Amino acid sequence: MTTRYERYADEIAELIRSQALRAGDRLPSVRQASASRGISPSTVFEAYYLLEARGLIEARARSGYYVKATMATPSWAPTMPRDATEVAISDLVFQVLGSSGRPDLVPLGSAFPSPALFPLATLARHLGQGMRALPPERLVQDLAPGNDDLRRQIVRRYGIDGIPVAPDEIVMTNGAMEALGLCLQAVTEPGDVVAVESPTFYAALQALERLKLRALEVPTDARDGVDLDALAGLLARHRVKACWFMPSFQNPLGALMPQAKRQALIDLLARHEVPLIEDDVYAELHADARKPLPAKAFDRAGLVMHCGSFSKCLAPGYRVGWVAAGRFAQRVERLRLMSSLSPALPSQQAVAVYLAEGGYDRHLRRLRRRLADSRRAMAAAVRQHFPVGTRVHEPQGGYLVWVELPPSVDALELHRRALVQGISVAPGPLFSPTAGFAHCIRLNHGHVDDPRIDGAVQTLGALAHAMA
Ligand SMILES: Cc1ncc(COP(=O)(O)O)c(C=O)c1O
Repeated sequence: MTTRYERYADEIAELIRSQALRAGDRLPSVRQASASRGISPSTVFEAYYLLEARGLIEARARSGYYVKATMATPSWAPTMPRDATEVAISDLVFQVLGSSGRPDLVPLGSAFPSPALFPLATLARHLGQGMRALPPERLVQDLAPGNDDLRRQIVRRYGIDGIPVAPDEIVMTNGAMEALGLCLQAVTEPGDVVAVESPTFYAALQALERLKLRALEVPTDARDGVDLDALAGLLARHRVKACWFMPSFQNPLGALMPQAKRQALIDLLARHEVPLIEDDVYAELHADARKPLPAKAFDRAGLVMHCGSFSKCLAPGYRVGWVAAGRFAQRVERLRLMSSLSPALPSQQAVAVYLAEGGYDRHLRRLRRRLADSRRAMAAAVRQHFPVGTRVHEPQGGYLVWVELPPSVDALELHRRALVQGISVAPGPLFSPTAGFAHCIRLNHGHVDDPRIDGAVQTLGALAHAMA
């Protein structure tokens, strides 16, 4: 159990690590900190002494406490596990996304690939034909469990991958986002602790914020995902009610957790009886020949709620998602009935007919090829145009690339300057409840048909050079 002064010290250490506080910056006076945080002056003193002992700050006579100039260069690399934190990220997310949503911007900060990559005309045809063919009584019957044909198609696809899933485990939802939120609600109460990757998808943090849950950040590597040793330590020390992880093509890192590690993750969570909310919306966008098996495939205890979606690989905007919710299926289903009742049936029907007609796997193969090309091109362009000290992680799937800039580059400022040049980027602090990753950005390479992309990456590189 950490004390109040240790928690305050950790918060400041994080501000230093993330470069929100830089070498030479003055810390608030003891009086200011005590008044603004509602903690006693002695708590502030204790925290400052602790930070001094850790070599992060120094006292200057009659002047106050300052961030030490000799501090080691912070790195984006997995951070030390901390305490659970309350989440208040939405203002920043809406501010950044609000300014990034303009259609005239080059959408490097977008979370969606180009709509032109999808068979939209075919889907629209199936939408009309499918609804004309649907017996009228199905419009009411299908509300509760979701479209029966589509659930069967989804179960069949699990079966082909060798994962036994029963049809009544599947709850259809309005995109994966609803599924993920319902899963969280099914296993938590306000105030509970949920383990999330660090960095993690900002909408996961917003879901925690909405449900008044606390986030416990688990260090996560850009290559192989969650640090299991760190997770084991956190599970031993905290009453974690759920984990929300993305083992395949993690957003924003693109990390792919190897199979043996997935098995170890499931074993660890089973020992602690902690449910896993597996956010797997990029599963079909793998660069390798084989789709990675989800962590759900290793689950024997029914603890994994595997959330999928057609938003990223087939039908953006149709809002068709689902969860194979294991032992929590009934609870998730009831929560959905109490909130949205049901996802819209025409969207589900269109996707069901598309899957039944064949052609989905062919579409996916073409999509993967195009994304593999644009992924390589984006990583090469970043290497060519960005300042020395930049690291770009070329993932093995998805359409998002994580870029670590030299520590002096402030990603939020880069985002603002890029907007002026007509370019959006997703700055690192969006992906952490503690405003970490201040010198990192996430870039989208899924707009393969946009002729402005090359020039935009070059312009971004020039902006980063000026700030490095
Ligand atoms: C990791 C992750 N999970 C879930 C979602 C939401 O998926 P959907 O559009 O199906 O709600 C997104 C979309 O950006 C995502 O990146």
